[in-house]
Amino acid sequence: MQTLIVSLEERSYPIHIGAGVLSKSELLAPHLKQKKVVVVTNTTVGPLYHEKLTNTLSAIGVSVIPVILPDGEEYKHWETLNLIFDTLLKNHCERNTTLIALGGGVVGDMGGFAASCYQRGMPFIQVPTTLLSLVDSSVGGKTAINHPLGKNMIGAFYQPKLVLADISTLDTLPDRELKAGLAEVIKYGLIRDIDFFVWLEANIEKLLQRDRAALAYAVHRSCANKAEVVAADEKETGERALLNLGHTFGHAIETGMGYGEWLHGEAVSAGTLIAAELSHRLGFLDGNAVKRIERIFIRSGLPVFGPKLGAERYLDLMSHDKKVQDGKLRLVLLQSIGKAIVFDQASEAEISDAIEARCT
Ligand code: NAD
Ligand code: GLY
Repeated sequence: MQTLIVSLEERSYPIHIGAGVLSKSELLAPHLKQKKVVVVTNTTVGPLYHEKLTNTLSAIGVSVIPVILPDGEEYKHWETLNLIFDTLLKNHCERNTTLIALGGGVVGDMGGFAASCYQRGMPFIQVPTTLLSLVDSSVGGKTAINHPLGKNMIGAFYQPKLVLADISTLDTLPDRELKAGLAEVIKYGLIRDIDFFVWLEANIEKLLQRDRAALAYAVHRSCANKAEVVAADEKETGERALLNLGHTFGHAIETGMGYGEWLHGEAVSAGTLIAAELSHRLGFLDGNAVKRIERIFIRSGLPVFGPKLGAERYLDLMSHDKKVQDGKLRLVLLQSIGKAIVFDQASEAEISDAIEARCT
């Protein structure tokens, strides 16, 4: 097991990474204030890992109140969130009751948001079970639900007390989901860690084959990058925006196609190629770098072209982006592999041309 710390003064917390950490009661015990917890999971992850987590907790005398949500991005909304509040209230949960989110990014984002609101904030723990949630969504305290007009539009910054990152949960993850998670892994190489990008170029097939050592390394290196960025800029007033490479275009794809149609990681992959294309057209990124980026996404089995929604529709959807400032779109672009910037001077025509060139 390896441990990283997200350094946020009194809100600092550990990320324990390893195969089997889900069975280690001693990692959970110091963070629980009561002898009962609420475990939020879904209809897919529940049957796979709920019993294991319940056994780990019962070994330290802690009982579990389960909340089993419907599975899917299309359920990441108010009505589903309310199911969590219903259970919390019916079971007289208090401010000191801990909520544990067991699942991928959808469960983690909803569980975290519920914890941030319930009685104005209850402690919560992330137990991520997808590659995407292990390397990204469980760390950093962004929590949210979707609105029909925009992805993750309603939410809060709310840090967990602990992230228990058990990479053995990846054994049951469908291939398509594993590939989607790789999009966020590659992102760290692209925005700030060229050495990691080079490592990924050499090891991407090992990750696809679920080589345990390679996965552990990729999860650790991704979390280390994320922890550094979050510690420097928790509320996204600067550097943290770079973690959104490909996301402005990607969120437009997810919303425009209907939530759940494109996986988040797939949309980020195509969105990253649109961002790379625009970076090239604006003179920031050379053509060989675009080809190199395209190659690693193709080798990961991810889409490198977005759906043909039409540039106008993309721009409309992108106008809801959280990085819009004074009505101006701020995009994350690449200067080189390993160096991202936020740029707000691209014209609508330049953005539209890049979208049209990268959508089929
Ligand atoms: P997900 O939560 O929908 O999980 C993907 C699928 O895999 C689901 O069907 C799930 O039930 C299933 N699953 C989960 N773990 C499994 C396992 N171990 N074995 C078998 N099946 C398993 O999707 P995701 O990719 O984990 O997360 C995407 C979400 O995360 C999006 O809503 C996105 O907006 C959000 N996100 C948030 C942040 C953040 O910083 N908060 C960052 C990136 C993405
Ligand atoms: N996933 C982007 C962020 O956490 O900031």
